[in-house]
Amino acid sequence: MITQPTSRCRQFLFQQIEPFTIAIGIYFLQGSIPIAIGTYLWPMRIDILTVLPELLESPFQHSIMKRAQDKGLLEVVTHPLRKWAVNDYGQIDDYQYGGGAGMVMMCEPLAKAIEELSAERKYDEIIYLTPDGEQLNQRIANSLSLKGNLLMICGHYKGIDERIRQHFVTKEISIGDYVLSGGELAAAVLVDTIGRLLPGVLNDETSALFDSFQDNLLAPPVYTRPEDFRGWKVPDILMSGDHKKIDEWRLEQSIERTKQRRPDLES
Ligand code: 6GU
Repeated sequence: MITQPTSRCRQFLFQQIEPFTIAIGIYFLQGSIPIAIGTYLWPMRIDILTVLPELLESPFQHSIMKRAQDKGLLEVVTHPLRKWAVNDYGQIDDYQYGGGAGMVMMCEPLAKAIEELSAERKYDEIIYLTPDGEQLNQRIANSLSLKGNLLMICGHYKGIDERIRQHFVTKEISIGDYVLSGGELAAAVLVDTIGRLLPGVLNDETSALFDSFQDNLLAPPVYTRPEDFRGWKVPDILMSGDHKKIDEWRLEQSIERTKQRRPDLES
């Protein structure tokens, strides 16, 4: 099945991505169908380097991420970094030069792993998940969802040797201003946010378009049956059947919510 992004989909993608990418995209793709066919024929492939592959077993085996893989739109492969350990004990970290508590992930296992994996496919980005990276947002997710091959590196302990960051890593991403024990959960968040944007992954292609943060607006409130729950009623407008009015109401609610909860989001 080939599901092409709607023109609104292209519009939002193009609004959120850097002008250079837009120019290249328009020049080469001339519309949404080639993107969809491309995604269909060449699923996005995400390789993840981690010391704790077990932590990443479950997140991609359910719900939307599972569907994306079952449909052949996304391939996620985790690689245990200890496969490239420097000795038979499986060592991948060492004390830091200059002293101080906490271990650092060594150059050699990471360099070998990256080089071995890069020999099999060319990565569009080699992403290091780290609390001092650029903070993930919808614009970054939209942009990464247009790539073909991504390699993600999960850090642990005090992080990875700076030389790997300088010589191999092309992008550094954080998922927020707090510290996690390792990059695995951040990688799971990143894969999820990218994976659901791939054409054909969501049943109703438009639903990603109206997510919070597309257009820098929070999503409006939603209701389902029953119409009256303990005397708490669904707003009349949603029961009116007037879709133009409903759309207007939703937009107003989105704008109001954004003003109140996230005034920092410019729209
Ligand atoms: Cl990407 N890694 C770790 N260890 N902590 C984080 C993070 C990443 N993003 C926010 N906190």
